[in-house]
Amino acid sequence: MIKISRVVVLGTGTMGSGIIQVIAQSGYRVKMQDISDYLLSRAQQRIEKSLSKLVEKKKISVEEKDNILSRIVPGTSLDVVSDADLIIEAVPEQLDLKVGIFGELDKLAPKHAILASNTSSLPITAIAAATKRPQQVIGMHFMNPVPVMRGVELIRGRVTSQETIDSAVEFTCSINKIPVVAQDYAGFITSRVLNAYLNEAAYTVMDGNTPKDVDDAMVYCTNMPQGPCALMDLVGIDVIVYVLGILENEFGPKFKAAPLLRQMMRAGHLGRKSGRGFYEY
Ligand SMILES: NC(=O)c1ccc[n+]([C@@H]2O[C@H](COP(=O)([O-])OP(=O)(O)OC[C@H]3O[C@@H](n4cnc5c(N)ncnc54)[C@H](O)[C@@H]3O)[C@@H](O)[C@H]2O)c1
Repeated sequence: MIKISRVVVLGTGTMGSGIIQVIAQSGYRVKMQDISDYLLSRAQQRIEKSLSKLVEKKKISVEEKDNILSRIVPGTSLDVVSDADLIIEAVPEQLDLKVGIFGELDKLAPKHAILASNTSSLPITAIAAATKRPQQVIGMHFMNPVPVMRGVELIRGRVTSQETIDSAVEFTCSINKIPVVAQDYAGFITSRVLNAYLNEAAYTVMDGNTPKDVDDAMVYCTNMPQGPCALMDLVGIDVIVYVLGILENEFGPKFKAAPLLRQMMRAGHLGRKSGRGFYEY
């Protein structure tokens, strides 16, 4: 198994900054890389704000907050990976972009390093094929918001080695998250099961049930923490339709988006971000 002590995170947006925070909070020194100094300082501010909330709630001291921040080292060049044991990529969800980055990483990272992608929908096997070490490529699918969500889906590509899986499992536990290993088919476990459920909920609204009744049924009768319509509004109707399209491509018509979701998209009722979805905001 590879002993992981030096970690680099590529991309410091919504997911990257959360991943950097939890890794630094667990005592690791972590390098973060993005395409401009402005984006790096924005990530630093975001992490500082998140840690300040923990100080306010008395979960960490001011001294601990300062120590965590001091363990985060920014850089704009991909050369930051030259001494890494583990690199976690969290750049935008575009296969071409990720494939290009993994090709570069393969040249720049030490031979033993594990290359991980935080992709939520792209095949790890295709990303791994851009390298000469596909056995050391794995999916590490963190959930949003990273500091809050407990689980991390670890995606086993077609040729990911057991040693790589074991190392990633050990690392995930060391940052106080629960690892779950999933096979490399579209949507892995989480997105596939969740989106089938959300799509079916949209059909029950088409049947004439109100979004509130659908949500109340699932919250009070099955103990879901949140109703599916409220969750779809939070995620974005456009995002749900996009992911269903990927699942339909791989698994066929059972994942065809409910006509209601397409109609809502056409009306611009995308959920919270547009002020209206199943509910008004
Ligand atoms: N947002 C979510 O809820 C969520 C959940 C799970 C997984 N994901 C996945 O995580 C990944 C990142 O998503 P996000 O929401 O954090 O995106 P984001 O747009 O918030 O952040 C992406 C960051 O990557 C940077 N970037 C772009 N090109 C780069 C390059 N060549 N090198 C280094 N950095 C580069 C951008 O400047 C930006 O800071 C995606 O693959 C996404 O599918 C997202």
